[in-house]
Amino acid sequence: MSITMSTPTHITVLLEETIEALAVQPGGRYIDCTLGAGGHALAILERSSPGGQLLGIDADPEAIAAARTRLEAYQSSILLVNDNFINLEAIATEHDFSPVHGILFDLGLSSPQLESSGRGFSFKGDEPLDMRLSSSQEVTAADILNTSSEAELTQLIRTLGEERHSRRIARYIVQERPIETTLQLVGVIERAVGSRRGRIHPATRTFQALRIAVNRELENLSSALKQATGLLGLGGRLVVISYHSLEDRIVKRFMQQEAKEARLRLVHKKVITPSLAEVHFNPRSRSAKLRAAERITLPREVGRDQTVY
Ligand SMILES: C[S@@+](CC[C@H](N)C(=O)[O-])C[C@H]1O[C@@H](n2cnc3c(N)ncnc32)[C@H](O)[C@@H]1O
Repeated sequence: MSITMSTPTHITVLLEETIEALAVQPGGRYIDCTLGAGGHALAILERSSPGGQLLGIDADPEAIAAARTRLEAYQSSILLVNDNFINLEAIATEHDFSPVHGILFDLGLSSPQLESSGRGFSFKGDEPLDMRLSSSQEVTAADILNTSSEAELTQLIRTLGEERHSRRIARYIVQERPIETTLQLVGVIERAVGSRRGRIHPATRTFQALRIAVNRELENLSSALKQATGLLGLGGRLVVISYHSLEDRIVKRFMQQEAKEARLRLVHKKVITPSLAEVHFNPRSRSAKLRAAERITLPREVGRDQTVY
């Protein structure tokens, strides 16, 4: 799982837009639920100085280590926790870190994880089909591939990969397993549906489906968004950057529902996407969608003063 010298650096996506959406202010208190390489976190600390504080969370211990180095200048203002954001509320409570001015989710994976974690997130090289963000998780992508029924695989690849050839791919997987490595899986998919069609590689959607399943990405996001709302002080901002339609749908529906129930107010009329210049400079940013909402009411049962503005 070690990252080598040639580790690609992660280019932070929608940086200015995120800082603006979070309305970062000096002395503010923020939670970055997806610390990654610490790019957003660093900007939050710079803009909230003097007196800003940041609680950074990441499920991947290597991300925490890299961010700790990058944020060294702000040592006394940060608290970094290696955990899954499904435990957001418990982490904030344990560290007495609420109410807060802003909470950020920059979902998905960082470039080092995708390209050189050795965990099979990408199929550029031949790697074991692991795909876990943390080795403390039990189920790997290979486990799912090699133990699920054909019907379960069809369903998983269709719903989490939005892959229209899911049935055929699942049939080939079951016929050719055990499958242990990325290139083995790519070979199976190419035999099932051909080697090239359209703009994306034919294995892309199946890899997405496996990664989402292994890390329970959609369930964790739904739960964490609810927890995040509860941690915001009055006027606090929730900002989420997502990279595929399944995630964005969850975020959009969540914020709309919270707005309907008058807990949150939508900050923007339309979803924020990267400029052409950003996409040109960082092609990975092309699918990013940023949504933001502001806490406008607090639950009656909250006894203490949660006003943070
Ligand atoms: C796109 S990167 C964040 C990059 C960061 N914003 C930056 O600018 O450097 C996403 C990070 O979220 C982490 N992550 C994804 N899902 C998570 C989860 N459920 N709990 C905690 N961390 C998670 C990944 O390990 C990865 O490091």
